[in-house]
Amino acid sequence: MIHFVTTSDGKYREVANLLHGYGIKIERERLPVPEIQADTSEEVVRYSLDVLAGLTANDVLVDDSGFYVNALNGFPGVFSAYTYRTIGTRGLLRLLEGAQDRSSRFETVMGLRLGKEVRVFKGECHGVVAAEPHGAEGFGFDPIFVPDGEVRTFAEMPITEKNAISHRGNAAKKVAEFLQGR
Ligand code: IMP
Repeated sequence: MIHFVTTSDGKYREVANLLHGYGIKIERERLPVPEIQADTSEEVVRYSLDVLAGLTANDVLVDDSGFYVNALNGFPGVFSAYTYRTIGTRGLLRLLEGAQDRSSRFETVMGLRLGKEVRVFKGECHGVVAAEPHGAEGFGFDPIFVPDGEVRTFAEMPITEKNAISHRGNAAKKVAEFLQGR
């Protein structure tokens, strides 16, 4: 059994739902893992897996994600959690007032530790920042992100639709295929 270490209800719901579709069950674990400030999610994930190796003998999965807005040179990126907590979706919309380019992307890096083996899986989803927040599903910046090819925000989609195209869904599919291939 793989233990998904996360404090985010939204991440857990999405990953459990997607992996369940592949017949893979996970359990949630709420271990206190310090999150380092680094330039990439991959560094954050690798550090978390190192720390977890000293805390638990269980096989573990972790997720670090970020929202990258092109008109802001990629901000908030690895500062997404802090930005969400401080200025939130409304604050981010204000930073984009008057911007012509509203293109953006989400990135997820998932790290898996199985015994001594460490694997990293990445997923992306490109889209645009909406003019206004819409929808009540999902979490975080979902109400202001419209994926390419869609007119709805992530927050207007049921979990299975978000998972089918999202950064986290793409990373979790790679995790599932890796686990099935072992
Ligand atoms: P972290 O991976 O916990 O550092 O998350 C970074 C920030 O991005 C958090 O504030 C989340 O709310 C936000 N975030 C992460 N994943 C998603 C997502 O799938 N949709 C919307 N916001 C997200």
